[in-house]
Amino acid sequence: MAARVLQLAKLISDSAATIDNACTENGTSVPDLDTRFDPRGEAFRGHAGVSIAVNTAISAAYQLLATLRPAPTSILNTAFGFMYSTTLRVAFEANVSTIIKEAGGNGLHVDEIAAKANIDPKKLVRILRFLATHHIFLEIEPDVFANNRLSSLLDIGKPLSELQSNPVDKFEGTSGLQAAIARFGDEAAKASSYTWETLHDPKTAFSEEPEDAPFGRFIGKRETYWDWLEEPEQVAQLTTFGVAMRVMNSTLAGGAILKGFDFKSLTENDLIVDVGGGVGNAVLPIAQANPSVRIIVQDRAAVVKDGVEHWKQLFPEALDSGRVTFQPGDFFAPQSVKGASVFLVSRILHDWSDKYASQILSNLRAAASPHTKLLIIDSIMQYVCHDPAVEEGTVPGWDSMRKDAPPPLLPNWGLAGAQTYGSDLHMMAMHNAQERTLPHFRKLLEGAGWRLVRVHPDPANIMPQVEAVPI
Ligand SMILES: C[S@@+](CC[C@H](N)C(=O)[O-])C[C@H]1O[C@@H](n2cnc3c(N)ncnc32)[C@H](O)[C@@H]1O
Repeated sequence: MAARVLQLAKLISDSAATIDNACTENGTSVPDLDTRFDPRGEAFRGHAGVSIAVNTAISAAYQLLATLRPAPTSILNTAFGFMYSTTLRVAFEANVSTIIKEAGGNGLHVDEIAAKANIDPKKLVRILRFLATHHIFLEIEPDVFANNRLSSLLDIGKPLSELQSNPVDKFEGTSGLQAAIARFGDEAAKASSYTWETLHDPKTAFSEEPEDAPFGRFIGKRETYWDWLEEPEQVAQLTTFGVAMRVMNSTLAGGAILKGFDFKSLTENDLIVDVGGGVGNAVLPIAQANPSVRIIVQDRAAVVKDGVEHWKQLFPEALDSGRVTFQPGDFFAPQSVKGASVFLVSRILHDWSDKYASQILSNLRAAASPHTKLLIIDSIMQYVCHDPAVEEGTVPGWDSMRKDAPPPLLPNWGLAGAQTYGSDLHMMAMHNAQERTLPHFRKLLEGAGWRLVRVHPDPANIMPQVEAVPI
């Protein structure tokens, strides 16, 4: 056992040395956790060898923690996991990060934070102490809290007075990260707490219907998340959801959509149909990078309305010229646009069980020409162990995404890649749906008349593209 502990510790120290050398060579450094988040500080992640070293260190550190911490403590800590969501939501909704920032200085006493947030300081302090123990906020003196790199991301960047007086529009013009925190911490966390009841109840246990997701149990009626979002009382949630999708496409993915399929090669004769395109976050970088290609964004009518408003702010020329249009459409109905160059299906299939995902794919197949390309953007699930399912070299692009971590680390890189597994369970909670492995995609595609031809990898597994052509 001691040998394993030393092995893990060595992986961490070797990784730290690799990162340090790369920073020295490039004149950068790893930003201190105690300072505010600054995107420029992330430059070190781009140096050669750093991203593997970072993943190795994260995976080894978490494995070391699981190895060294008493097992009952680890299990109890996991049972308390809901407290991460709960405390983060309170700190976010109470605008704690903004309150501390606006006070200037090094930090603020919890009594003053609580007074501005209209919260009981005796309760808030315990919430902030839980977060600070998990490296979100600092307690720099007894009861005095300051922002750090993580907590500063809770700050929307608008004045407190505006955040408190205008909670509906406060996310407009933001990266989407805070909007995602709002949606995850609210209905997603609540829905997810009903997962066991949903899996256990014979009425829902084996269902593929979206209305039978844990989310339906949370709202107390058989309704999909999409229908719920369109209820008049959920106006703020619908708008926030649209903004939240931005974070997947931009901040987290770092413009990854342009690093996959060669969108720049498309001409004015080409047409991209962004099926279920939301407010058009995914295609925005494509429209900006390629001034010729035509794009139609299809979604539910209420969303299309928001999308047009969004583009009027961000890229009005594209709308004015007619090059980019929004169209209400139901992807369970026959596709109205025939023979598009590209059908883009970004973060759609993971919202649906196989029964419904295959209907979406079949509708697109019926509208495809022999030259149509289908591009699916969804995370690709991997087994925790080595995956023998896809032979090396059989799917172009896949090998560079599925490189196993070195032993004794988990082959799937453990905590360094854990976000995908969280996203998968989020889909279960909200939609009775799932993320998929590559063989699962292949089978689903073949059943709907498509052949998987390549993967455009995204090492972070946020925006890999699965490319298919008509069979
Ligand atoms: C997870 S979002 C993805 C949005 C966008 N593709 C992106 O990557 O940012 C899923 C989208 O599917 C849309 N949607 C749900 N049901 C739909 C349907 N039956 N027809 C068309 N769009 C639908 C939702 O309104 C939502 O915008």
